[in-house]
Amino acid sequence: IKKIGVLTSGGDAPGMNAAVRAVVRASIYYGIEVYGIYRGYDGLINDKMEELHVRSVSNILSRGGTFLLSARSEAFRTKEGRAKAYENFKARELDALVVIGGDGSFTGADIFSQEYDVPVIGIPGTIDNDLAGTDYTIGFDTACNTAREAIDKIRDTASSHDRLFFIEVMGRDAGFIAVNSAIGGGAVAMIVPEHNWSIDQLIKRLRKGAANQKASNVVIIAEGCKLGNAYDVAAKVKEQLDYFDIRVTVLGHLQRGGSPTTMDRVLASRLGVAAVEGLRDGQSKVMVGVINNRITYTPIGEAIKTVKRLDDDEFRIAKILSI
Ligand code: F6P
Repeated sequence: IKKIGVLTSGGDAPGMNAAVRAVVRASIYYGIEVYGIYRGYDGLINDKMEELHVRSVSNILSRGGTFLLSARSEAFRTKEGRAKAYENFKARELDALVVIGGDGSFTGADIFSQEYDVPVIGIPGTIDNDLAGTDYTIGFDTACNTAREAIDKIRDTASSHDRLFFIEVMGRDAGFIAVNSAIGGGAVAMIVPEHNWSIDQLIKRLRKGAANQKASNVVIIAEGCKLGNAYDVAAKVKEQLDYFDIRVTVLGHLQRGGSPTTMDRVLASRLGVAAVEGLRDGQSKVMVGVINNRITYTPIGEAIKTVKRLDDDEFRIAKILSI
């Protein structure tokens, strides 16, 4: 391996910059040339890339977003788009590609590497934490901290006014942010896309809290939950529990920004170095991850096909603590 390309793709996540920095510096450390590809796969298709040096990645460790820019590339979903990408990959004499992103980006990487037999390694970067083959994805810890900080603030006003708040967090298909921020923020309940919680179950939980003189009530809703969005759930609850003064807050893209936590910076640094070392050792078509605090390489196809399950025990704990 003499020359590699690195790109960030899909929804950005805090810590992506730290991962790029680690890939760049580890490559140079091992005598590999490294090219930064701008705006995800679109940059590969449009040949928007340049060589990165040790100092190209100075002062980005603490910054949110991604200095390589990102996109959910429509063109890369097409055969023609991928053919153009491969033309540029060859013309630039790249030997391998490092893709930092989530399941959509890895699906693209998987197809591309099969079509053209290109060595590809994925680094899990998404706030959703919904990738099998790693305990945590880059950006998840920061997003949970941002959400939890917002919950703490909302709780202050919720308890001053004796109100019930519904707070919607991100996670279209996965409830990891909801579960973590709900436990960390002391929510009375959390509703996630993976479960079939009914309004009646939620009402029962809220009634119990009210009977126990619960001072403030915060319910966390993941954006993709089956009962609808936070406004829908609030309206359904209001129909049955009119003694609560109800408010709704949607946290939205606030959760995607900000300086990465130490956990995310360390994870990104470990995974970035491991990606380069994996390529040197002949790893290809894999996603690098951390399981039980050890670096692992999982076939990319397996990482995207396997559904990462929420931990049932966390729901049990949350229920015990919500009384
Ligand atoms: O995958 C990350 C994520 O932030 C999800 O939590 C959310 O559902 C989605 O991206 C939002 O996507 P967009 O920024 O394209 O609206």
